Amino acid sequence: MLLGPSGAGKGTQGELLSQFYNIPWISTGEILRDAVSKGDELGKAARAYMEKGALVPDALIIEIVKVRLSKEDCKRGFILDGFPRTIEQAKELDNLLKEDAKRLKVIHINLHPSLILKRICGRRTCRGCGTLYHLEFSPPSSSGICDKCGSVLYQREDDSEDVVRKRIEVYNINTRPILGYYGERVHEVEGEGKIEEVFERIKGVI
Ligand code: AP5
Repeated sequence: MLLGPSGAGKGTQGELLSQFYNIPWISTGEILRDAVSKGDELGKAARAYMEKGALVPDALIIEIVKVRLSKEDCKRGFILDGFPRTIEQAKELDNLLKEDAKRLKVIHINLHPSLILKRICGRRTCRGCGTLYHLEFSPPSSSGICDKCGSVLYQREDDSEDVVRKRIEVYNINTRPILGYYGERVHEVEGEGKIEEVFERIKGVI
């Protein structure tokens, strides 16, 4: 489980861990963005919350995660990115996993608030495969094009400065208390430094 504020690197590290351990990377943010771009029922329900930087209601998110974790590819393990985000979600996850809940590695990626905006404003995401780039820190070889699948890169709608500030506030109010819920089980990992360095720190914890 990767916890941390916006821009901490949850998605970047989730993708790397997924490749390294060959287990699925489950990002509730990505699932929601996919639903919004398809314009399906979930997307229609989630869009207004996401645009404002608010949390999507617990009931919707919990249902998404229940369905995703029941899939065959999660049997060997999985990486949760951006879930849980409220104490209610954390409790539901415990109920869902039952005995296995004790085996979760709870990893909190710390990032100094001054770095958040820089990370988020430079982020670009692949339309096709979701790979993450940064204009300065991890640019694609060819501007605007994904190295992996050749699709176009885009900037997220919720990455404007005012929405990011709102997401940081929501994180501090609703999500940070989860660290208290997990208590001593939380492994703190410093999110500053090169992507590979952070990756090594997380692997060390796992
Ligand atoms: P979500 O997509 O989860 O957004 P977030 O938590 O704000 O996190 P980000 O995706 O912005 O950052 P990240 O930590 O993944 O950083 P990244 O690796 O991309 O959620 C979006 C919205 O969906 C929410 O606001 C909410 O509305 C809704 N939602 C989602 N889950 C929900 C839930 N459980 N309950 C309710 N609502 C939910 O890195 C950022 C940039 O920095 C990238 O460009 C990357 O290349 C770069 N970078 C990463 N690491 C480094 C490094 N070490 N050095 C330099 N650059 C780096």
